[in-house]
Amino acid sequence: MDATIAASILSADFGHLADQVIEAQAAGVSWVQVDVMDGRFVPNISVGPMVVRSVRQVFSGVLDAHLMIVEPERYVAEFRQAGAELITVHVEATRHLHRVVQQIKELGARAGVALNPATPLSAVDEILPYVDLVLIMSVNPGFGGQDYIPSSTGKIARLRRMLDERGLGHVHLQVDGGIKASNVAEVVAAGATCLIIGSGLYNKKASVAESYATLRAALGR
Ligand code: DX5
Repeated sequence: MDATIAASILSADFGHLADQVIEAQAAGVSWVQVDVMDGRFVPNISVGPMVVRSVRQVFSGVLDAHLMIVEPERYVAEFRQAGAELITVHVEATRHLHRVVQQIKELGARAGVALNPATPLSAVDEILPYVDLVLIMSVNPGFGGQDYIPSSTGKIARLRRMLDERGLGHVHLQVDGGIKASNVAEVVAAGATCLIIGSGLYNKKASVAESYATLRAALGR
């Protein structure tokens, strides 16, 4: 599975969000993640279903809602209706992970489960056969522009082995936080198949197209 560079719009200019998403798509981005934060699961408040709906209107690629909210089961239907085709919930945010994964699937969406940096891989052991994606947070969730946590690389490699040994190679291994041209190849070499990138794509130093090309070059493709 070739590695996908996905845009996290958290670092985009929200005053021109549609243009920023269109610019990313024109640059070659085929996957956009919307970071949903409730001020409780993470110490920040971001956006809701209405922003997912707005992005859906201008973006034809994979639209992914990363729910950093407590009791995500209360809102997955609204994010599905808004146009998210992949919905990721945190294992630390719900008491009934299997039930919420089933709920997402019954809504016709793909299901992802996310792990905070200190949460061990054993937390997803039972749910792995039921999901389409596992997200390893390589920063503590809540903000863009943070530094990559170096021990994440070992965690990625261990998850890669778990998925391969269990014949679950179709499950996306997504990594989110602090990924830049300087470490993107290391993250992919460890086994990641989807890279969530915010400030590495949306920044004042270069256009989205230039940043995307630099990341692709760092990946050697
Ligand atoms: C943080 C979000 C990330 C963030 C990534 O909680 O989940 O998606 O936007 O931004 P960078 O790439 O700047 O770390």
